Amino acid sequence: MISLGVWSPKGGVGKTTLALNLAAAAYQRGRRVLLCDMDPQQSAVDVFNDKQLPFTVLKGQPAIVPRADLIIYDLPPRTDVEIIGDGILVPMRASILDIRAVNKSIRHIIKKPIIKCVNAVDVRRQDERLLAMRLYSEGALLIKDRSIYSRAISMGKTVFNTDVYGASEARTEVNRLLDAIDKVLGRQPDE
Ligand SMILES: Nc1ncnc2c1ncn2[C@@H]1O[C@H](COP(=O)(O)OP(=O)(O)OP(=O)(O)O)[C@@H](O)[C@H]1O
Ligand SMILES: [Mg+2]
Repeated sequence: MISLGVWSPKGGVGKTTLALNLAAAAYQRGRRVLLCDMDPQQSAVDVFNDKQLPFTVLKGQPAIVPRADLIIYDLPPRTDVEIIGDGILVPMRASILDIRAVNKSIRHIIKKPIIKCVNAVDVRRQDERLLAMRLYSEGALLIKDRSIYSRAISMGKTVFNTDVYGASEARTEVNRLLDAIDKVLGRQPDE
């Protein structure tokens, strides 16, 4: 079993969106996946309560060790919480202020692999494109600004629900992100 914390010092950068979609991508690959919503806002639990997700979202941590291949923790955007997980996915926007805040705060995450993800990149904006490309060249993963992510979540779904149409590019980029996370965490690729 491996676990992934999704954490950022910044709010509203896509932690919950990425946690839900990564869980869905892993589920689609046949893995037993559990999403633990560690944020008092309980946004992931709210989505789960719409009963459209094929995997379970728990409030907080499970009381007993779960039968899961992958546990994802959706963590709150605070520096005073325990940043749990074998590895930490750190989403950020393609903004210089986000990059600085992330670089400062991740110094406190010791001895854990960190995967940076520039989320919601607006490729029509040259400043965002340039920043995102710089971070990509330094090893960050990129997820584009796509309305399908918010549309799916507004229906209680992810881009992997089969009745969410026009999501193939989003699925591809989330799958790429999951592949990168697997690699960093040392998991063998799926068949
Ligand atoms: N790749 C994306 N493209 C377009 N919109 C996105 C993308 N990722 C997230 N969003 C939107 O950005 C907003 C914030 O996303 P989300 O709630 O996942 O962030 P968060 O980091 O979990 O926020 P919080 O810090 O409040 O928990 C939502 O409206 C979501 O639909
Ligand atoms: Mg959230």
